[in-house]
Amino acid sequence: MMKRVYLIGYMGSGKTTLGKAFAQAAHLQFIDLDWYIEERMHKSIKDLFAERGEEGFRQVERNMLHEAGEFENVVIAAGGGTPCFFDNIDYMNRTGETVFLNASFEALFRRLKVAKSKRPLLSGKTDEELKEVIRNGLAERMAFYGKAKHWFPSDYLESREQISESVEQLK
Ligand code: S3P
Repeated sequence: MMKRVYLIGYMGSGKTTLGKAFAQAAHLQFIDLDWYIEERMHKSIKDLFAERGEEGFRQVERNMLHEAGEFENVVIAAGGGTPCFFDNIDYMNRTGETVFLNASFEALFRRLKVAKSKRPLLSGKTDEELKEVIRNGLAERMAFYGKAKHWFPSDYLESREQISESVEQLK
């Protein structure tokens, strides 16, 4: 049977980490939507935001989601904002299995503190500002993330062992 899995969730929730490991274990292709966009557009996400603004980026992201959604037997790690614009979440629910990676505020803050530079919505923020962005972002986005068909706890992705355990559970 054809399989198409979309991983959704906030920045830092482990979509790429878990997606890669899961795809390998389940013998599926892996597409990270951010990377796919960067390759197709020959531009970094940062430059796309700078040149087109967030609105322009969201349009590109939507189009690329529809391209990536043509692939079969694939795990697609969406961007953190992907399900929250246009009818993207409905599109994903219609064309595959959606899994929301549910990470706690604390885990997100800890991870994003050291991984904010490539993310235009976070770069240059102080710790306090970062907390505020995460708090507000989660509050706004839960309505979209919550529409996923499956929820998966993703606080425990700190070691190889934890990642393989999560992959086993996800299977
Ligand atoms: C975004 C998340 C990013 C990337 C862009 C915007 C968001 O993806 O698409 O920086 O709005 O949450 P990751 O969740 O892979 O960091």
